Amino acid sequence: MFAVTAERIVSDDPLAGLGLGERPDPVPPEGWTTVTVRAASLNHHDVWTLRGVGISPDRLPIVLGCDAAGLDPDGNEVVVHAVISDPAWAGDETMDPGRSLLSERYDGTFAQRVAVPRRNLVPKPAALSFAEAACLPTAYLTAYRMLFDRSGLEPGATVLVQGAGGGVATALILLGRAAGYRVWATSRTEAKRDRAVRLGADQAFPPGARLPERVDAVMETVGEATWAHSLRALKPGGTVVICGATSGPMPQADLARVFFLQLSVVGSTMGTRDQLGRLLRFCEQTGVRPVIDRTMPLDQARDGLAAMINGDVFGKVVLTA
Ligand SMILES: NC(=O)c1ccc[n+]([C@@H]2O[C@H](COP(=O)([O-])OP(=O)(O)OC[C@H]3O[C@@H](n4cnc5c(N)ncnc54)[C@H](OP(=O)(O)O)[C@@H]3O)[C@@H](O)[C@H]2O)c1
Repeated sequence: MFAVTAERIVSDDPLAGLGLGERPDPVPPEGWTTVTVRAASLNHHDVWTLRGVGISPDRLPIVLGCDAAGLDPDGNEVVVHAVISDPAWAGDETMDPGRSLLSERYDGTFAQRVAVPRRNLVPKPAALSFAEAACLPTAYLTAYRMLFDRSGLEPGATVLVQGAGGGVATALILLGRAAGYRVWATSRTEAKRDRAVRLGADQAFPPGARLPERVDAVMETVGEATWAHSLRALKPGGTVVICGATSGPMPQADLARVFFLQLSVVGSTMGTRDQLGRLLRFCEQTGVRPVIDRTMPLDQARDGLAAMINGDVFGKVVLTA
């Protein structure tokens, strides 16, 4: 089968280690099944893997990709939950200390077929296309958990989303708006700020801008480049929910502001299989559909990854198999 793989780790030139070509078909172990992939979507996770972040060289070559929608062996339309927990683990899969994401320990979804645990399959609603459904398991699920589980916010609250153009960030704007939050966003370019407002953000600002008032919560995926602003933007008692640090993981912590204003810093990672099911229903019920920047065949994955590395995307890049 055709697949897109990480062949080598080249931290400062991630595309140099990318492989495109034939791989053996997956052989599902006991309790697993094979999904015929119809669509998969890129995440920054794929870039991190090529840079060697979160994976060791002895796992290579490995098929990239966390997200997929496709057909199970009986022809049912399914979405794949990307969090692989121990078969003996019960409850919130993201809390299993031994969990991995597809493409970290097991081959991922940028292939014509992928093996996954049977319990990781969630029925795809007919209302969503394969391309739309393939955007949900990582970026949208992460945004769902950040907003509706980890933030503690009630509808009507004001949320700042840093770095509006990303896959998670556009999901935060769409889901937050649909749930009745007032969403403010920052972005480095005016074009992306305009698009954020058209998507449903109430207002959009350049990075670091003074806001009209302090916010109840900040949704962080950017890290070092926006962290100081995120802490400054919060009301006393406010919460910053962080799921990623694209620009670097070691900002000045500004501990005095954290304790003096009684701020909460809350980590968030992916979401449960049940939350993925609720996210699918949320999309069905509200009419929210993922923002897709572009769709391209699997064998053009290099171009999609290059756009993501250059920050030249607004929303998700989808690969069709
Ligand atoms: N913990 C989890 O479960 C989880 C799940 C999903 C993603 N993540 C992490 O969250 C981050 C975002 O993921 P993604 O897939 O949404 O990535 P993405 O689509 O590549 O988005 C990255 C966004 O970061 C923004 N950004 C702002 N300042 C930046 C700077 N100085 N350098 C680089 N980017 C900057 C950009 O927004 P503008 O161009 O609008 O400024 C860009 O669109 C990644 O680090 C990823 O690993 C974590």
